[in-house]
Amino acid sequence: MTSPLRRACIMGHKIAYSRSPKIHGYWLRTLGVSGAYDVVDLAPPDFPSFFLSLCAKGYAGGNITKPHKEAAFELVSRREKAAEAIGAVNTVWCEGTSLVGGNTDWSGILLSLDHLYPGWDAKAGNAVVLGAGGAARAASYAFCSRGLNVTVANRTRGRAQALADQFGGNVSAADWDVRDDLLAGCDILINATSLGMSGEPPLSIRLDRLKPDAIVYDIVYVPLATELLKAARRRGHRTVDGLSMLLYQAVPGFARWFGVTPQVTPELRALMEADIATAAPAP
Ligand code: ATR
Repeated sequence: MTSPLRRACIMGHKIAYSRSPKIHGYWLRTLGVSGAYDVVDLAPPDFPSFFLSLCAKGYAGGNITKPHKEAAFELVSRREKAAEAIGAVNTVWCEGTSLVGGNTDWSGILLSLDHLYPGWDAKAGNAVVLGAGGAARAASYAFCSRGLNVTVANRTRGRAQALADQFGGNVSAADWDVRDDLLAGCDILINATSLGMSGEPPLSIRLDRLKPDAIVYDIVYVPLATELLKAARRRGHRTVDGLSMLLYQAVPGFARWFGVTPQVTPELRALMEADIATAAPAP
């Protein structure tokens, strides 16, 4: 007897660049799951009605990408605690006919670190987060959830301050100009800005202040080896690249929709590395 086809999708606009279908498609194929992951391109006026009828259409859930993330945040029936705190919904699933909104960026950061460097947080006390957008909020939430103190440095100080005010006790804001000075006591540094992405200015930061055992994480994945990661590797630091985050943030969604927890295999990573190397940069 064959199991019923389960469906999920990515909802966005002008999303030919999206790599999520390749990731979920790989897992569907290799795990032998009877399912599909569709690409649904919706202009903003068409998004709410499609989104609100997602469960009725037979979907188990989906991902939301630009420019619909804010609308999705507002339209879900209920938000998970993390999505609420981070202020962004990137993954939804159906509970009956209700849509629940979650955020998998923060768990992607933790899953990648736990997988690559098991026990990385055992002695880690301090994290430095560069940036104050959605990715930085996810990183701050992730590190707070493991009990680290987080310092957020952002070009626009007010955004870092707003993040610190909202997250409270363990999170503080710093001026962008003092980012080098924050590194002396830092156990994990994450670049959650767009700096270093192809077509963007480089990230200027002095890694010589960093403790030798600190981890350097870059959310940028085009290019795969950013100048930040190359400099960190030259200095002997443990590093995590943006492709790891991209792959691991997809795990919880797949597990929700299709009922199987997928693995980030070397084969999947190689497939995506090749894709990044050959494809035009994502906008
Ligand atoms: P996302 O939600 O995807 O994280 P975002 O909200 O656009 O994206 O955030 C991009 C981050 O990169 C912001 O922290 C931004 O700083 P501002 O809040 O000051 O805009 C940061 N960023 C972008 N260009 C930058 C630059 N040239 N120098 C320093 N920070 C920069």
